Amino acid sequence: MQGILEKIKNAKSSQELEALKVEVTGKRGVITLAFGELKNLNGEEKKQKAQELNLFKQEYERVFEEKKSEIEQKELLEKLQKEKIDVSLLAQNHFGKPHYVNLMIEKIIDYFSLLNFEVCEGSLVEDDFHNFEALNIPKFHPARDMQDTFYTKDQKLLRTHTSPVQIHTMQGKKPPLRMIAPGAVFRRDYDLTHSPMFHQVEGLMVDEKGKISFANLKFILEDFLKYIFGEVKVRFRSSFFPFTEPSAEVDISCVFCKGEGCRVCSHTGWLEVLGCGMVNDNVFSAVGYENVSGYAFGLGVERFAMLYYGVGDLRSFFEVDLRG
Ligand code: DAH
Repeated sequence: MQGILEKIKNAKSSQELEALKVEVTGKRGVITLAFGELKNLNGEEKKQKAQELNLFKQEYERVFEEKKSEIEQKELLEKLQKEKIDVSLLAQNHFGKPHYVNLMIEKIIDYFSLLNFEVCEGSLVEDDFHNFEALNIPKFHPARDMQDTFYTKDQKLLRTHTSPVQIHTMQGKKPPLRMIAPGAVFRRDYDLTHSPMFHQVEGLMVDEKGKISFANLKFILEDFLKYIFGEVKVRFRSSFFPFTEPSAEVDISCVFCKGEGCRVCSHTGWLEVLGCGMVNDNVFSAVGYENVSGYAFGLGVERFAMLYYGVGDLRSFFEVDLRG
């Protein structure tokens, strides 16, 4: 019987140990059988044999438990070793991808830089003059309200649109000029379709008075929208912006239902995609330009990206989602 204790001490795995346990205490195990034999003995002999067996059983249990925890410890370490993750290794199948908003901005820049529009950046923190006053946005205009605009302590604000870049560009340059200004803008808005930070691209073209007409604006925007969205219909609706006169909003035929009418286009067949117009003379006066004419336009990049890439929820642009 001592032989089995040696075997237990030399066991290498929990399976081996379990098999040995059966050899000792199973139905036909050595201890079980030995206890069974006791019934054939009598008196002192029986008592002595029973004592011996109990001592052996205790010894067996001690050796077994010791070996069991030793093997468990060893197997746990091996498992940890095998499953260890080296967080400093380069991910093999997960490469970063450019953000859809950046991809869309690049597409837009590609189009306009071919037409010699300069890309201007401007600053995210603006003053009242550049963001509102010079753009002919009157003092009582709701956009100026604390409800809509983030103000800083020192009378500055986070730009609410990219239009102030028009003003900076005209202040720093003589006409003629063509520029686009992509970048982040901020408004106190947060719901399903509005984010407090989003992106716009502003466009501006100015030349001697009479050289630039609404027809030029119409041509370029139609061509641009077809460049981005493919074969869509484009329509201009008259509208109002303080910084342009006349002003228009531009729609494309719905990219999802091809103009048939669906949930995305509210069953109208049309999607509004940008605002534009001929630059208001008050804006030219604010920057000291005389005898010029020009057009301007502004668009929301997230909206373009949602329509182009088929993204259903604006918020997914600003959440961390590692799916490709
Ligand atoms: N600044 C406008 C906005 O944030 C967008 C815009 C509309 C810009 C018409 C323009 C324009 O230059 O002509 O909603």
